[in-house]
Amino acid sequence: MPFENLLIENLGAVRRITVNRPDKLNALNAQTLAELDRAFVAAGEDTSVRVVILRGAGEKAFVAGADISELAVVTPVQARDFARHGQRTMRTIELLGKPVIAQVNGYALGGGMELALACHLRIASEKARFGQPEINLGVLPGFGGTQRLLRVTGRGVALELCLIGAQIDATRAYELNIVNRVVAAGELDTATLALAEQLAASAPEALRSILDAVIIGGEADLVGGLDYEAQAFATCAATEDMREGTRAFLERRKAQFTGK
Ligand code: COA
Repeated sequence: MPFENLLIENLGAVRRITVNRPDKLNALNAQTLAELDRAFVAAGEDTSVRVVILRGAGEKAFVAGADISELAVVTPVQARDFARHGQRTMRTIELLGKPVIAQVNGYALGGGMELALACHLRIASEKARFGQPEINLGVLPGFGGTQRLLRVTGRGVALELCLIGAQIDATRAYELNIVNRVVAAGELDTATLALAEQLAASAPEALRSILDAVIIGGEADLVGGLDYEAQAFATCAATEDMREGTRAFLERRKAQFTGK
């Protein structure tokens, strides 16, 4: 089935997914969420895809939140189901097993900030703006924002952003660990693609193991997390890529990882 609200491109081993509703600042309506589910499941299953970039179409926004015109008329049951749907989508991204980079050019507000937080790395243009403005609508973040923001910034900052609902700029987001890198607006595409290509050249099982150990292992206590890490280490040791990586070091050459 074709996508109405997403653009999908393959750039070598990098899949670039663009939320494409620029006239609505790429707001997430139910259909766009469903398309994101489908696009990420497909990216996860496709072995030729090593890294995913997620971005928003147009000059102004990554994603300006959940679609307020849909939110305005929901019943409580529909609201709960919408939140659950968004949470599932965010979790699919978080547990994809391949690095997902959020490329944030402009507004990442509400569900847009939550979407960026579900990605593994965030690279922002200096024009990016972040915020959880749901309080201004009489509601709270519902796609996991209260939980992921808490884990990224700690309680004080998460509470400040959610309780006050003010926007912050890219520099402040960098200071708060919300973004990994800030680049000039004109360099955002190139810088994100370069980062994605660097990751795509790495051993995919090792990438997966790192993501799982940090994300799934990180949700356990220290003993459980360390055990998870040791098991993942053993799994990597069963790959040809680990043989290649270690041999290449000893032979003073660049490793060629094949994903086996
Ligand atoms: N849901 C639905 N539509 C949205 C939207 C959202 N979250 N964010 C923006 N839009 C729409 C606007 O309604 C407008 O549509 P229209 O041209 O048909 O009227 C279009 O996108 C452009 O937005 P506009 O508000 O005119 O742009 P702006 O530059 O003046 O302001 C923002 C930009 C981001 C500050 C403003 O759009 C905004 O506050 N958006 C909502 C952010 C939010 O609260 N997100 C959390 C939702 S839970």
